[in-house]
Amino acid sequence: MTIKITLIPGDGIGPEISEAACKVLEAAKVPIDWETHIAGQTAFDKIGNPLPEKTLESIQKNKIALKGPLKTPTIEGFKSINLAFRKHFDLYVNLRPTKSFEGVPTRYNNIDLVVVRENTEELYSGIERYTSPNKESAETVSVVTKKGSERIIRWAFDYAIRNKRKKVTLVHKANILKATSGLFLEAGRRIAPEYPNIEFDEKIIDNMCMQLVINPHQFDVIVSTNLFGDILSDLTSGLVGGLGLAPSANMGHKVAIFESVHGIAPDIAGRGIANPSALLLSACLMLNYLQMEKAAQKIKTALLKTFKEGKVLTPDLKGNASTLQFTDAVIKNL
Ligand SMILES: NC(=O)c1ccc[n+]([C@@H]2O[C@H](COP(=O)([O-])OP(=O)(O)OC[C@H]3O[C@@H](n4cnc5c(N)ncnc54)[C@H](O)[C@@H]3O)[C@@H](O)[C@H]2O)c1
Repeated sequence: MTIKITLIPGDGIGPEISEAACKVLEAAKVPIDWETHIAGQTAFDKIGNPLPEKTLESIQKNKIALKGPLKTPTIEGFKSINLAFRKHFDLYVNLRPTKSFEGVPTRYNNIDLVVVRENTEELYSGIERYTSPNKESAETVSVVTKKGSERIIRWAFDYAIRNKRKKVTLVHKANILKATSGLFLEAGRRIAPEYPNIEFDEKIIDNMCMQLVINPHQFDVIVSTNLFGDILSDLTSGLVGGLGLAPSANMGHKVAIFESVHGIAPDIAGRGIANPSALLLSACLMLNYLQMEKAAQKIKTALLKTFKEGKVLTPDLKGNASTLQFTDAVIKNL
């Protein structure tokens, strides 16, 4: 049976890595019928709207999408379309796993961490304004709710159980942000005893960053609010070789959107040298979500073999292959 999936190639390196990911999925004979739609800067330039109704309708109908990165203009310009998707479909879970790859040289071996980021609340509430006429001051409202905190923390513990993980570390700043981060921490302390077989640990965000750099092996599943989770997952990607290798899943109760952790990489866009692995690994998360574990494993094994061989790698991994050459090497290893 063919599965209809919405594909948003995205901005910057998005179309290059999306083409690569689709090529591998096709070579692996995964029966997908892509429904391609635009969003972000590409849609803004084309039709003057960064969030076209047709794109939303397609995701709503198919319930699943693979998405390339989207540009969010800095300071001025339209608001983040990524946030709009997450809010619109209530994709409250942002799952960001990081695992070491044999053949990719890094400071540490055997990293196996999972960041579970709350994806709809806190400082990404979208409520912000200038509070004086000449931009002398501004405020952004951080909204954290009991319901939002409890559902993501519970999801993190359930994920730990399902995946035979041992420990959940909740990351917060409740010493300073007593109300918002405090509410999140209290939810964690309330829920943790419901999971007696999972060790519960809490860390203040500043210490957490230092601990992750010095001794990442002490962590397992990490759960945090939106902004901290966003930053921590870029940090954890750096532990295993960088953003070119970091996948993610945005999930709610009805819809899921899979995308790489990285952005549009404007510094290398259009040069054909982007690493498509993060999006390809995101596609594997998508196949697992669709209970097509065999196909996901087949693609992952080919990808891991390509890293291990170390002959055809993109420049971010100290190789000199193009996106296409790397893609062909993965396909050869299928
Ligand atoms: N989910 C998303 O759509 C998403 C996520 C993050 C940033 N962004 C957007 O992307 C734009 C640029 O952000 P940024 O420069 O801070 O972050 P970025 O992730 O685009 O790039 C950071 C660095 O990592 C490198 N990099 C990223 N992905 C790579 C890949 N696949 N292969 C090789 N190298 C890669 C880039 O070349 C750059 O040096 C901004 O507009 C931002 O809003 C979008």
